[in-house]
Amino acid sequence: MNNPQYRQRAIQAREELTDDYFILWIWDEAWGAAVRPGQFFEIRALASLEDAQVAGHIPKLFKPISIYDNQGGRIGFMIKNVGKGTNALSKLRAGDMLELLGPAGNGFPVYRGKHALLISGGIGYPPMWYLQKELINHNQVYWMHGGATQGDTFPCDEIFTEDGSIGKKGRVCDGLKENIAKYDIDIVYSCGPLPMLAAATAITQELAIEHYASLEAYMACGIGVCYGCVIPVGSALNWDYLRVCKEGPVFKAEEVRWELI
Ligand SMILES: Cc1cc2nc3c(=O)[nH]c(=O)nc-3n(C[C@H](O)[C@H](O)[C@H](O)COP(=O)(O)OP(=O)(O)OC[C@H]3O[C@@H](n4cnc5c(N)ncnc54)[C@H](O)[C@@H]3O)c2cc1C
Ligand code: FES
Repeated sequence: MNNPQYRQRAIQAREELTDDYFILWIWDEAWGAAVRPGQFFEIRALASLEDAQVAGHIPKLFKPISIYDNQGGRIGFMIKNVGKGTNALSKLRAGDMLELLGPAGNGFPVYRGKHALLISGGIGYPPMWYLQKELINHNQVYWMHGGATQGDTFPCDEIFTEDGSIGKKGRVCDGLKENIAKYDIDIVYSCGPLPMLAAATAITQELAIEHYASLEAYMACGIGVCYGCVIPVGSALNWDYLRVCKEGPVFKAEEVRWELI
């Protein structure tokens, strides 16, 4: 596990995806050599003096954002504009400055010779993009992604939408059991809303399939200090609260006490 470091970096490029989603690219060769899929950074728009003078205008909290891509140090963050912090990030353009704290968290284990199934929901997509790039040369990979509507979907092998606007109508877990059998899956990686992860875990536990889930949690410090992000992890009789930002965000799915969250 790396110790998170604070740096300021210029945005090299910005990509528009949909009305709500965009990608910010930075360049940092040392971080590029150190990061792993599933890790994240705490990021925040660097306030200009002018902005800082407008009381209450600059969100104080850093926001946890997964590594979407890493091209040897060209690091991308794919972001959905949902609230004050991500809205401030959405206003940034190439040349603007970011404050970053990271890399944070443990990341996904990357194996070889597996039949891997990736399952993502909504903003669970970005870490899976980086993960599938690391897996694809040494494993068979099948990727299912689900969103509320077409605007929440991105390239993968199979898409589900709740409103049926693209792909199959329904939730992404609807196809999980069938695809585990069809593609002879022996490992599952997941990232998305907690109910989706819990539903996926029920299926992988029933089928005794290894499963690593990346959890979302509200984070304050993001670096293991405040214990604001803890979740219950362990066996039914012997569990403890672990920090999503430090011991996670990736956990063995069967060890998360979903019934207590
Ligand atoms: C480890 C980790 C990795 C993440 N990676 C990404 C990523 O790659 N791209 C991305 O766009 N987002 C990612 N997120 C989610 C992102 O951090 C939140 O959307 C962001 O913090 C919202 O802040 P805000 O100030 O814009 O909105 P807020 O005003 O704080 O919240 C807006 C809405 O989003 C909900 N919300 C906020 N934070 C969370 C959360 N952690 N879990 C569930 N619901 C939440 C709130 O309930 C509210 O409805 C990640 C979160 C975690 C914990
Ligand atoms: S957010 Fe502070 S310990 Fe995790």
